[in-house]
Order: sequence, then C-alpha cells, then structure tokens
Amino acid sequence: MRLGILASHGGSNMQAIVDASRRGVLPAEVVVVISNNAGSQAAARAAREGIPFHHLSGVTHPEFEQLDDGIARVLSGAGVDLVVLAGYMKKVGPRTIERFPNRIVNIHPALLPKFGGVGMYGIRVHQAVLDAGDALTGVTVHLVDQEYDRGPVVAQCEVAVLEGDDVETLAARVLEREHAFYVETLCRIASGELDLDRLS
Ligand code: GRF
Repeated sequence: MRLGILASHGGSNMQAIVDASRRGVLPAEVVVVISNNAGSQAAARAAREGIPFHHLSGVTHPEFEQLDDGIARVLSGAGVDLVVLAGYMKKVGPRTIERFPNRIVNIHPALLPKFGGVGMYGIRVHQAVLDAGDALTGVTVHLVDQEYDRGPVVAQCEVAVLEGDDVETLAARVLEREHAFYVETLCRIASGELDLDRLS
C-alpha cells in the first residue's frame, strides 16, 4: 500500500505512520508528503526521513482549482493507493476526491459526529468535550468527502475523560491514542479486513 500523507503542522501522526512502516508493523510505504506549510514540522520530518516532499498551497497555486489539480497530480504521479490526512487543515478539493474515490482517510480527535465540522479543530475540540461534561471522548478515522468531518466512519476508539483533565492533558492523551490507532486502522485497511468501498 503506497501512502501519500497531507499534513499542515506537527506531523506527529505522520511520524507514527512512517515509523510503523519502517519497523515492518504496517505493510505500507509513505511515498510522498504534501503540506500547505513549507516551514511545518511535518516538512522537516519528511526531509529527515528522506521522503519526497511537496509544498502546495495558496502561495504556490493562488487559484483553489489549480491547487486541487496540483495535489491530485502529485499524488497520482507518486503512485499513491491511499491518501492519508494527518492534521491537514485545508479542504481537499473535488478533483482530488474524484481521483481517489473512497481512498482518502482523515483522523479526528473526537467521536464523530460529535465535536466535528467547521471550526472544530485543535484544542477547540477538546474544550468542547470538557464543556459538554462528557466522560468519554475518542478518535475517529473517516473517509473524506466534500464536507468537513462528514464522510463515513472507518473506525473509532474511545478515550476516557479523567477527573481534573484540562484541555492540555486531554489533548495529549487523545493524540497519543491517535498515533497507535491510525497505524492499527491502516493495518486493517491494508489487510482487507476493513473495506473502504463497503462502509455504511
Ligand atoms: C490530530 O489531533 C488530528 O486528529 C487532527 O490534527 C492533529 C494533528 O496532529 N486532525 P499532528 O500534526 O499529527 O501532530
């Protein structure tokens, strides 16, 4: 399974996926990394790991359609089988979605459909969970379509909200779980146990 990763900032999920593939835990190879942010940690991690990296953004492609086309071309050119969004903060365009039907996954740090959608990212998600007083939050891997955080769920796991949690402690616990869970879910996709063409 040839993976193309899109990441905007930290790239810690991307790193977990690269590490798992290099250890032989995940039968996949990260063949290209794309970021809208040339100075991101994700970009630095790709350089350190020797993975081809492309900065594609509103700076390199002022028109969204051109950008969308550029992203689709880079992914196709790299022979990507599965597009993996890992903290990618931009909308994926229709050309990329058409080029990779049911082959774009995203990770979200909550139990969708709760705490998703426009404006629900980063610590805002965890703050909303704390404000709601929920005892459980979690991680969702889902297919990407035209709407933020709306595609069919591929897999979910729960993470407990502990007494005394603040937004930082909760965010850290969920992020740590994300790293293992994204790798586990990609393993299940690679093995065929999870069929992305047959999600309800
Ligand atoms: C993660 O919490 C992920 O769920 C969300 O963005 C964050 C990315 O973190 N979509 P990182 O860039 O992988 O460190």
